[in-house]
Amino acid sequence: MKKVFLPFAIIFLLLFLSLFLFSKPKEEETKEEKKEKIEKKQENTMKKYSFYKSENESRYLAYKQKNKTLSEEDIIVRVNIGLDQPYYTNTQEAPLLNTPYTLVNKYYYLREDFLPDNLEELSEEYSKGGIYLVKEARDAFVNLVIDAKKENLTIRAISAYRGYTYQENLYHNYVLQDGIELADTYSARPGFSDHQTGLAVDIDNAVVNYNNFDTTKEFTWMMEHMEDYGFILRYPKGKENITGYRYESWHYRYVGCDIAKKIKASGLTFDEYYMKYIDS
Ligand code: DAL
Ligand code: ZN
Repeated sequence: MKKVFLPFAIIFLLLFLSLFLFSKPKEEETKEEKKEKIEKKQENTMKKYSFYKSENESRYLAYKQKNKTLSEEDIIVRVNIGLDQPYYTNTQEAPLLNTPYTLVNKYYYLREDFLPDNLEELSEEYSKGGIYLVKEARDAFVNLVIDAKKENLTIRAISAYRGYTYQENLYHNYVLQDGIELADTYSARPGFSDHQTGLAVDIDNAVVNYNNFDTTKEFTWMMEHMEDYGFILRYPKGKENITGYRYESWHYRYVGCDIAKKIKASGLTFDEYYMKYIDS
């Protein structure tokens, strides 16, 4: 039995040794190959999101390198907004004009001659006078003011539609007063203001300065009910790096009830919500 087994054992051993000795040594992976492999893997994992845009691929990867703590979703959404580039670069005309979903921010603008359809004046019962909103937003705002009044609260519009030239003068004066850097944190450049859509409204309670609106009972009521009328807080606290503006407790934007409710429940800004669920 031993005699038969031995030659087989020797052949098997030789075969095993030759495999080990003569096999091609595995080449070292170069740094470039390793980088490529990692990037390919990352690129693939991001592709599963419906809001992934292949044309932004290299920007996602570069932004991810610089913002390692952000989730992939946040990377994609922020790059889609344009936040990987300085404000006011790669600007494009605002999409979905004359719908409640128009997005205007530091990357999406309205042309100088853009005038929203169906602008209508708000009566002085609901505003400080001379204030215009797009009809759908105006009707919703009137209902909001009426319902707030039933709870002995006073809400009035102090600014809503602002044309390009109006915003140009406003911004220019703020720049003279505070310099460009500071003015850009609270005032939109002409063409880049939410107010030009005719869907934005600044409010107060006719007593407290609008800057302190968040100290009022009316603000608390707005936080509880605004979405029932189709409004959202456009520039929330803690989201300054996404909206590009300091917190504004007085600035509301009409987006319609359905989306207003979804935005409130999600805790997203309109810019983020737009990139995730409206942009196609
Ligand atoms: N205050 C807002 C950002 C505007 O100027 O449109
Ligand atoms: Zn405003």
